[in-house]
Parts: sequence; structure tokens; C-alpha cells
Amino acid sequence: MNGNLSTAKAAKKDEFYTQYVDIQKEVEAYLEFDRDTFRGKVVYCNCDDPFESNFFKYFAANFNRLGLKKLVTTSYDGSPIAGKQLSFFEYDEDNGERQKPKAIAVEIEDVKDINRDGSTGIDDVEIFLQQTPHSRTRLTEGGDFRSAECIALLKEADIVVTNPPFSLFREYVALLVEHDKKFLIIGNVQAITYKEIFPLIKADKLWMGVTIHSGDREFRIPDHYPLNAAGWRVDEDGVKYIRIKGVRWWTNLDHGRRHQELPLMTMEDNLRFSKHKEIKGKAAYDQYDNFDAIEVPFTDAIPSDYDGAMGVPITFLDKYNPEQFEILGITQSWDGCASKIYPKQIQVGKDGKKSEVTKLNDGAATKVDSPPEGQTYYIVDGEFFTKYYCRLLIRHSHPA
Ligand SMILES: C[S@@+](CC[C@H](N)C(=O)[O-])C[C@H]1O[C@@H](n2cnc3c(N)ncnc32)[C@H](O)[C@@H]1O
Repeated sequence: MNGNLSTAKAAKKDEFYTQYVDIQKEVEAYLEFDRDTFRGKVVYCNCDDPFESNFFKYFAANFNRLGLKKLVTTSYDGSPIAGKQLSFFEYDEDNGERQKPKAIAVEIEDVKDINRDGSTGIDDVEIFLQQTPHSRTRLTEGGDFRSAECIALLKEADIVVTNPPFSLFREYVALLVEHDKKFLIIGNVQAITYKEIFPLIKADKLWMGVTIHSGDREFRIPDHYPLNAAGWRVDEDGVKYIRIKGVRWWTNLDHGRRHQELPLMTMEDNLRFSKHKEIKGKAAYDQYDNFDAIEVPFTDAIPSDYDGAMGVPITFLDKYNPEQFEILGITQSWDGCASKIYPKQIQVGKDGKKSEVTKLNDGAATKVDSPPEGQTYYIVDGEFFTKYYCRLLIRHSHPA
């Protein structure tokens, strides 16, 4: 296993468990913006083992403080961690030889101080679940978030909060949007470039959450997963963790960070004083050959006074304030905002290997005077081109 979500997705290894503190930090950030974000709401965690999932634990423990109306959690058939901390007979009922726990739903509408320790918390929820079998329902369709049973629960929910399976992110988001749900979920930053996801971002129906900007976070993994990622540890209880890159919170809940203005310098000041060697000392920002926009290789190098289109890295979204900027498009061929389509081109790899491709149309390109050394480049009609990583095309709403 490698330490990024795309590899997890390719390997269909979906068991990465979110830490309590990461959930707590993110949810609390919404409360700072609007303390009633979750008040009177039905929260649904639809990829979560009741009790073992920290999403369940956080919302159950904070049920009264958040003012929840109801917490619904559904587990997935065969989950390797279901029942490890709190077992219910429904997991194994009629299981025969089968060792894997069946899927269940848990619904909580009230959290009382059952153990009379003067406050309500996860210990009270544990006792409540043990004493109240009718809070649990067996799911006959396996707990798949796409199943009719789970969709019926989704329809009743106001806000969905979870870390869904990485391999099903597109489908997962599509379902939430179809049912017009509010949500706060974890996913890969690369999903910005998916043709099913980017239009939602452009239409301001989906944006980045508040925390995890560096995108490198530790997740718990099942005991049977191999430990060959770059960053991993095993704690004193033998529990395995790996660090995963490219992780973001994705949401359509409003929060304070996205209304903060990004402080920027003018184009002239950037060209004179930028901390980036790629900008400082240049006569001008590069212009793309196939998009009517300039290349801005770093979000903090966006010139405050440029009123045209600018290409920025996808991580710009971590700083995106929809009042400050407008998103115009993305440099992917399916978005159709290129000003030019190249005929078939010759790609020359770093090792000098040549092949005929159409890839130059899938990104912003720039013309270069001579073949660049140690870099992949393209030849079109005898002219040389290089291609940038995927860029978002943006412009200032009110340039300085
Ligand atoms: C990335 S893990 C996260 C688990 C938990 N939400 C957390 O953050 O700790 C995704 C979970 O979704 C479950 N899962 C996989 N496919 C699913 C599906 N089709 N429907 C519902 N859950 C699924 C997996 O068993 C896994 O526990």
C-alpha cells in the first residue's frame, strides 16, 4: 500500500479509519461560524460501524451539545472492525459458519445521563445501546449506501457526515447531490479534476472544508493491511496507522474560512519581490498557448490587479473565497474551454522515447524555443511545447 488515496482507490482498499480529533476539529470549525449548524438536524453516518467509527462516537458523545434531533449510523456487511468494541447479537444472527458481521443500522434520538456521572457522553451511549435493542435494525441489503434501505434513511437525514469508501467517491457524491443533502465528507484532493465533481465546484455546490490543508493525515487501518507506506506506526496496543496524502474535507456547509479574503500582491510587486524563483525577476507571467489565461504556479502568487483569466494549481481551492474569485473552468479537455485544439502530437519522454499522442489537449500548454532538458515535451508541426499540471481557471470578482 502506498501513502495516497489514489493508490488506495486502485487497490480497492477502503478500510481507513478517521481519527476522532480530525472529526472534532473539522466539525467544531462549523460551530465557530454558526453554532446552530447541527441543531435540530438528523445526522447520518452511512459508512460507519456504530461504536467503532469515530464519526459515530463524536456525534453520539456530543449529541446534546450539538443539539441533534437524531443520529443514524449504518455499517457495511463484513466490516472488519464491526463489533470489536461493542458487539450486538444482530452482527452474527443466522450467520452459520460465516465469520463476518452483518450490516446494521443504529438510530439514537436521545442521550441521557444513564450512568449518573453528572454529564452525558459515550459511556451513556454504550449503556443505552446495550439496553435498547430497538435502537438497532438489521439491514437486509448489506448496508451499501446505494441500497434502498440506506437511501430511505438518507432521505430522512439533513446532514451526512463520514469518510466514504475512496473507490466510490464519484457515486457517493452524486447520490448526496441527487437527494439534495447537506454533507461533510472526506475525499481525495484529486477529485477536483473529476468531470463528475468539478462542475459542482464551479457551480458553488461543493467546496473544501476547513482543516487538513497540508492534506497529510494519519488514519487507522485494519490489522491485516500491510505496512509498506512511507509514514506508518503501530501504537502500544498493536493498532496500525498510516499517513495518507492528498486528503481533504469536502462539504456544502458554509464556514468562515471561505469568506476570508486571500491577501495578495500586485503583478508588478510579484515580479519584483515574489518568494518564488519561478516568478521573481521575470518580465511577465507566462501566457498559455491553448487557453486564454496566464500561468500562476502558486496560489500566493495570484496578482491582485490582473483582471483576466488565470490558471492556478488545484490546491487553490483550499483558499478559495467565492466573493473574491470566480471559477471559470479547468484545463481538462472535457471542460471545453481551450482556445485551441492541437492535432496529434509527438510526445518525447524524459528518456527521449517518442510516441504519437493527443495528451497536449488535456492541459494547459506553453510554447518553448528549444526542447527542454530532463522533461517530457511535445512536438506539434515542428514547434516545441510543455504541459502544466491540471490548472483551475479563475478570475478576480473585483480586481484591485
Ligand atoms: C474509508 S473507510 C472509513 C470508515 C469510517 N467512515 C471512518 O472514517 O472511520 C470506508 C468505509 O466504508 C465501508 N464501505 C465500503 N463500501 C461501502 C458501501 N458500498 N456502502 C457503505 N459502506 C461501504 C467500508 O467497509 C469502510 O468501513
